Amino acid sequence: MVKTSLAVEFVNIPFKNPFMLSSAPPSLDARRVIRAAKLGWGGVVLKTVTEEPTVDPRTRLGVLRQGGKLVGMNNIELLSRHPLKTWTDSWIPQIKREAPSDFIVIASIMSGPEPEGWTTLANTISETGVDALELNVSCPHGSPEKHMGAFIGQNPDLVERVTRAAKKGTKLPILVKLTPNVTDIVPIAQAAVRGGADALSAINTVESLIGVDIETATPHPFAYDQNLSEPQSTYGGYCGPAIRPLGLRFVSQIAKAIPTVPISGIGGIENWYNAVEYLMVGATTLQICTAVMWYGFGIIRNLTKNLADFMNRKSYEKVENVIGKALPKITSWTALPKLPPIVAYIIPEKCILGKECMIACADAGYQAIRMEGNKLVVNPEKCDGCGLCAVVCGENAVEFRKTE
Ligand SMILES: Cc1cc2nc3c(=O)[nH]c(=O)nc-3n(C[C@H](O)[C@H](O)[C@H](O)COP(=O)(O)O)c2cc1C
Ligand code: SF4
Repeated sequence: MVKTSLAVEFVNIPFKNPFMLSSAPPSLDARRVIRAAKLGWGGVVLKTVTEEPTVDPRTRLGVLRQGGKLVGMNNIELLSRHPLKTWTDSWIPQIKREAPSDFIVIASIMSGPEPEGWTTLANTISETGVDALELNVSCPHGSPEKHMGAFIGQNPDLVERVTRAAKKGTKLPILVKLTPNVTDIVPIAQAAVRGGADALSAINTVESLIGVDIETATPHPFAYDQNLSEPQSTYGGYCGPAIRPLGLRFVSQIAKAIPTVPISGIGGIENWYNAVEYLMVGATTLQICTAVMWYGFGIIRNLTKNLADFMNRKSYEKVENVIGKALPKITSWTALPKLPPIVAYIIPEKCILGKECMIACADAGYQAIRMEGNKLVVNPEKCDGCGLCAVVCGENAVEFRKTE
């Protein structure tokens, strides 16, 4: 059996494992970050700081459940509520002192469209002993109203300009955190690289309206006034497992377009399987927010153990061998092979006759499934190989076979 290592190099910094807390509530003060560090996290991106501390609405989170299970979360929280000085003079030095020495600390900064703010902030934070900086040009709520966050991240010229400005203020590696709220992420990623980005982080949250309380006609999350009456809401940032398909898409698109620049993958990573998915589409490190908010820092134990078990089972000696493994298999639609000679086959030993496949095939497929005695069978003459029956089957009882 190979000896697997989770160590990975990212922007010339050695990480003991690829897992980082993303810039969010799990990284909003020193004590909790140190606690996470001691549990085995590879690093952290601290809660975004800017010139002025944030005053947030209450409440500021809404969730989406499917059958009781949490699948997505929306937030209208902004940046650090603590002054820059608290971070520079107290908390960052404390984290560097008390966290294990191999725990990597990345500061997240945000300023406006003018370059000077970025240069000054980058310079100020660099002197605290952090290992790298992440530029937040991607927060989709609140910040754009002040010409910050995604307002910058949606404009390649501004992204290039502020990245270059931040670079001027520091010798540390710079990650630029990108917004998914764009038509095409590649020109934005390229602009960040032109400005001097050493790495790209993707993705920040997806602008959304998570739901409406229909009894009171009020969208979630409820931002209460001082009398706790007549709550209002606003568009927020969607995150958690529901956005993973978007994160995977954006990371893979960047990795294919700019293969020389490393990526920190973010968006709906809940477990080791999702971690492998992100690595395989081109991420080198992995950032997590929602899964920690829902399940706590302790998830790091399963993340590292199960990732190592997978790599051992598949004989991947190091994380670098997994990175980008799926990319060659992402092609254009035009280049995909068409109409291979396959049809669905329902495995009788696995089928529990739930009939979801038969209903779906009748109404949205090609009417190819019928009951024959006490079995569901596929008519190969009618089956079009669309795959609908397989995706609705909860028993994994459908496979595809070559036609005779
Ligand atoms: C409540 C909350 C606050 C956040 N604050 C920040 C922030 O200050 N800076 C930032 O770059 N991203 C922030 N994020 C975005 C996360 O870092 C992350 O990009 C996003 O949640 C997607 O990852 P996830 O699906 O693992 O949550 C925040 C997310 C949430 C839920
Ligand atoms: S693959 Fe499509 S057409 Fe064939 S049996 Fe399944 S649902 Fe019907």
